[in-house]
Amino acid sequence: MKAIGTAVTGIAIAVILGCGQGKDEFQQEIVDLTGQPPEVAFVALKCAKCHGAGLEGQRTAPRLTGLATRWSEDDLIAYLRNPQAVQAATPRLAYMAEKYPIEMPAYAHTDEQVLRGLTGWLLAK
Ligand code: HEC
Repeated sequence: MKAIGTAVTGIAIAVILGCGQGKDEFQQEIVDLTGQPPEVAFVALKCAKCHGAGLEGQRTAPRLTGLATRWSEDDLIAYLRNPQAVQAATPRLAYMAEKYPIEMPAYAHTDEQVLRGLTGWLLAK
């Protein structure tokens, strides 16, 4: 909760998968998010492209509201870093992953502070 409203800082290296393309079409991109607020990171890291700009969910990915009922900040960061590993241990996520045509990409190398700012912001939605 402490990260709410604070600007995210640092360089984020995002592994980006274009929506609507084949499952294996990854594209590496380096995005400088120094001093940017979480809502900018949400767009720059392409979360909005799959999940919807208003977190409402769409054909490509589920809605991202009410996450605090089932995620802590640390668990959510671990998931963003390696979604496939968390899915394997969580039946709800494994079931959800089956329903969508593309995979949630791994943000394994994204700056820790950027992810903290982003998850704090998301958990307040
Ligand atoms: C290429 C499309 C895509 C992108 C980009 C993407 N996601 Fe996802 N996301 C998914 C899909 C599909 C799921 C469904 C579950 C799964 O596959 O693990 C998901 C699941 C999730 C979940 C779990 C939702 C729940 O109900 O518990 C969270 C949280 C999440 N994404 C956050 C993010 C954030 C934050 C970003 C950006 C840093 C992001 N996603 C980028 C496709 C995407």
